[in-house]
Amino acid sequence: MRFEVGGEIATITMDRPGKRNAQTFATWSALARIGRTLPEHVRVVVIRGEGPSFSAGIDLRMFSPEGLPGQGSFASAAALDGETFLARITEAQQGFLWLRRPDIVSIAVVQGHAIGAGFQLALSCDLRILADDAKFCMKEPALGLVPDLTGTKPLVEIVGVAKAVEICLTARNVGAEEALRLGLADRVVPRAQLDEAVGELAAALLTTDRDAAAATKRLLLGAPERTLEEQCAAERAEQAVRLQALFGKAGAEGNG
Ligand code: CAA
Repeated sequence: MRFEVGGEIATITMDRPGKRNAQTFATWSALARIGRTLPEHVRVVVIRGEGPSFSAGIDLRMFSPEGLPGQGSFASAAALDGETFLARITEAQQGFLWLRRPDIVSIAVVQGHAIGAGFQLALSCDLRILADDAKFCMKEPALGLVPDLTGTKPLVEIVGVAKAVEICLTARNVGAEEALRLGLADRVVPRAQLDEAVGELAAALLTTDRDAAAATKRLLLGAPERTLEEQCAAERAEQAVRLQALFGKAGAEGNG
């Protein structure tokens, strides 16, 4: 995995194209570490994968008795006591959760396949730009597992429960055009134009005020859990802070 920072944009690149950027526990630890140590000035985080596919999901060696060198297998994980096993999944989920933080906007750049953990990684980002050959697939149920890397909630929020059930329980491919129609993609472009499209989106995201953007994202993220009255109160509270920051106490009182 490569991590590069250019100005206010950080780029994380999964760099195992020969294995279609298959993910391991080490991938998720590395992601979590990047989240913990992200430079404060970064506002946009771009996640991409080298080669023909964004990510083919979990490394299938996890299903073999030998597992991954130094990381075990599903069989060895299943043999752990319940608490240790759950702690292991919690730890893996940390690699995904930070991408929703209000102080950043995360963008997944998806070409080719995004399967299982690859689809969930894309879902954990705020926005998804797809190449026209992109395909999402929630393969876990076909393998006897459930998606457990934080992807089920954003999937349901974006496509609704019925479509999420259909997509997950058939484990079918969702192509780029359908993804766009369902709201799973913000934009679909020819593969050769991916970099340009990401650059344009990142630049547009950087045109807004940093603190106002974070406050707005906090509001939007909290909206589904709140009643209208609660959301209105949250808007008032955030605006009071913005006005205080911009104009001092008098301004905040004048607009309360
Ligand atoms: N793990 C490990 N290696 C993988 C891999 C994976 N998930 N996916 C692909 N590879 C390897 C292949 O073994 C092959 O390696 P060699 O060249 O050494 O033989 C190499 O990557 C290229 O693979 P393909 O020749 O198959 O490439 P392709 O472009 O024709 O097809 C693909 C790409 C459709 C992604 C196909 O490789 C594929 O279906 N991979 C498996 C996908 C999968 O089932 N992933 C698990 C999803 S479930 C999950 O993530 C979460 C979970 O279980 C908890």
